Amino acid sequence: MIKLAIIIGSTRPGRKADTVARWVYDIAKKRRDAEIELVDIQDFNLPLLDEPIPPSQGKYSKPHTKTWAAKIDAFDAFVFVTPEYNHGISGALKNAIDYLYREWNNKAAGFVSYGSAGGTRAVEQLRLVMGELQIADVRAQVMLSLFTDFENFTAFKPAPHHENSVNNMLDQVIAWGGALKTLRQG
Ligand SMILES: Cc1cc2nc3c(=O)[nH]c(=O)nc-3n(C[C@H](O)[C@H](O)[C@H](O)COP(=O)(O)O)c2cc1C
Repeated sequence: MIKLAIIIGSTRPGRKADTVARWVYDIAKKRRDAEIELVDIQDFNLPLLDEPIPPSQGKYSKPHTKTWAAKIDAFDAFVFVTPEYNHGISGALKNAIDYLYREWNNKAAGFVSYGSAGGTRAVEQLRLVMGELQIADVRAQVMLSLFTDFENFTAFKPAPHHENSVNNMLDQVIAWGGALKTLRQG
């Protein structure tokens, strides 16, 4: 069985990301085809990237980098739960991604986004980043609207059809996560 991380992509006080990620986690936990874990980048207290050597060389010097690297290394696939900040992803998520390299390679990812336009522009940006990290990003994605999936733009009340979208996205991420695991083992 593959190991899949649901990554909480905002560290903002009062963030929506944790509520959305927990909803994804609760849906994913009902499945029997992957081991699921919630990963909160906030727990890793990552400063703005402070490693002197580019991560692609894998020479990590700081304890926070080594802890973060060990966590991400343990997974075969990821679901990034991302807000949209100024038509891109949050600085916190980009920083956490930039810290590592090999730990991301030859794995699969899917996206759950939210925003006034479903967070789609953030996901388009993330897809460009995935290419450089050699992460295979799946087509299916979950787009939550601040207008219709949050009451008064605050309380998270996702429309029922989104549960299907989460499972469709997970089907693809888990399939590719399993396929790419064999590549890493080979
Ligand atoms: C710095 C900043 C920029 C934002 N820019 C956008 C944007 O470009 N598009 C959008 O749909 N929402 C935007 N928003 C609203 C966010 O979608 C909303 O605040 C959401 O709750 C942020 O996710 P978080 O609560 O998990 O941090 C922005 C919010 C912040 C704080």
